[in-house]
Amino acid sequence: MIDHRPRHLLAVSDLAPGEAEAILRRADDLAVAGPEVATIGRGRVAALLFLSSSLRTRVGHGAAAARLGLAPISIDELRWEQGMTAQESFEDTLRVVSGLADLIVTRTPFELDREVVGRASRVPLVNGGDGWNEHPTQALIDLHAITRTVGPIGDRSIGIVGDLSMHSTRSILRILAAHPPALVRLIAPTGRDDPGFVLPTGLEARVERTATWDTTGLDVVYLAGLPEGSGEGRLDDEQRAAFALSARRADALDPGAVVLCPLPRIDEISEDAMTHPAVRVFEQSDAGLFVRMAVIEALLTS
Ligand code: CP
Repeated sequence: MIDHRPRHLLAVSDLAPGEAEAILRRADDLAVAGPEVATIGRGRVAALLFLSSSLRTRVGHGAAAARLGLAPISIDELRWEQGMTAQESFEDTLRVVSGLADLIVTRTPFELDREVVGRASRVPLVNGGDGWNEHPTQALIDLHAITRTVGPIGDRSIGIVGDLSMHSTRSILRILAAHPPALVRLIAPTGRDDPGFVLPTGLEARVERTATWDTTGLDVVYLAGLPEGSGEGRLDDEQRAAFALSARRADALDPGAVVLCPLPRIDEISEDAMTHPAVRVFEQSDAGLFVRMAVIEALLTS
């Protein structure tokens, strides 16, 4: 019996072996050829169901869908009006939207339930960040940025600096587990909680809890951001500043090293460092358009 269930990208683990590389190669082809060559989405609709704030993921998937010929439509709340006792459920919303669109991209403040998505969505769904859980397209964008700036990942040393528990950090760790670098260092401030942080299976990494950070030997410094935290794990301004990149600190990086960041930048990269040649965060973000196009194409043709 043929399985007609749609394919979803909820987590890095949904990528088949070799698929991340294929998506990144296709992204490169799209970047060179220009988006007008890709017409797979003509006459189709992409629903952007964003229940949490986002700039890059929402607009990025909207732009990617449009460049593939899909018409993007935006939904940013569950149905609710004053006087109603409860909002329409996420599951019902998903079921209804999946009857109207050919692809759904979501961001939710809660972790997506695979069973709910499988039950409700009749079309492919891309997880654009679910609570503290995963952000698989960001992981693909990060892998693209790493391999296109410093070359084959197996030879490289990568430092993930800052918050180890956010969805972008979790997903980059999971994609690194499947594409292991020579060395991974996880560099986080002493005394901060990283709720729910666990090293993904298969990833060997050195966890460094430290008051400041040393970038010696790193080819990639991935700034994951550093929220203040709360309660006993709250960091003061001085502790947070010790984890920010200044121009002086960028000058001290190893030759050829690059600084990446999923963005938004809050204060983890100072203004004077943004024009430093090692800081490649906007190049990373720009390439995200083509990575997202390749993801959409892959899901629509699965
Ligand atoms: N990197 C990222 O996911 O950015 P947004 O929160 O703006 O989508």
